[in-house]
Amino acid sequence: MPPPLLLFKTTASVLPILASSYGRKEMDTTEPRTTGHLSRLPSRLHHHAFVVRDHEANRRFFEGLLGIPLVATWCEKSFSNELNKVIEFCHTFFGMADGSSLAFFQFADPEIYELTQAERPAKIGRYDHIAFKAESETYDELKRRLEAAGEKYRETNHGYCKSIYVSSPDGLVVEFTEDPPDAAEIDAARRADAHRELARWLTGDRRTNNELRGRAF
Ligand SMILES: [Fe+2]
Repeated sequence: MPPPLLLFKTTASVLPILASSYGRKEMDTTEPRTTGHLSRLPSRLHHHAFVVRDHEANRRFFEGLLGIPLVATWCEKSFSNELNKVIEFCHTFFGMADGSSLAFFQFADPEIYELTQAERPAKIGRYDHIAFKAESETYDELKRRLEAAGEKYRETNHGYCKSIYVSSPDGLVVEFTEDPPDAAEIDAARRADAHRELARWLTGDRRTNNELRGRAF
């Protein structure tokens, strides 16, 4: 059995401190006027969209290297309010097992690509990423594919999951993550203290609560 997750107590005065300490407008620091969670949560990721310079280079990476199939290509023209003209674009989707997908846009006019890019990319970009759950055999196969292709990837054992990270030709960072056998137990513990731990950290208590990091599984 893994060691239990560390739980920290926070004081009852935490929430008033949160509500008054950052000088933001009221909406940011108080509960909204609606109550409770959605009656029915969104069911899953539908797609995550990203702009690419070259659909074929992108397809070679996701379908050819990683083995995630191209499942739809929509070729379209639409009026751009930003540019006040009709633009031509191609929208591709690469499908996961649950029906969710990674989606990509390429524009016929390369100038539009430039207009979609940040003027100054982040110096450290890896924290912005999208992650997909992979079963153990898929996780291992992805590693084998990356290694066989000589493609660079990063692997981290977070303890509550382990992950490989790859970067597409256009810089989309995609994580594939494998859950441990006791994922349900971990999930239950973290759900129980999620608000308390958030409040604790935001008020300056920076003790780690991940005793699982690096454990073998
Ligand atoms: Fe992640």
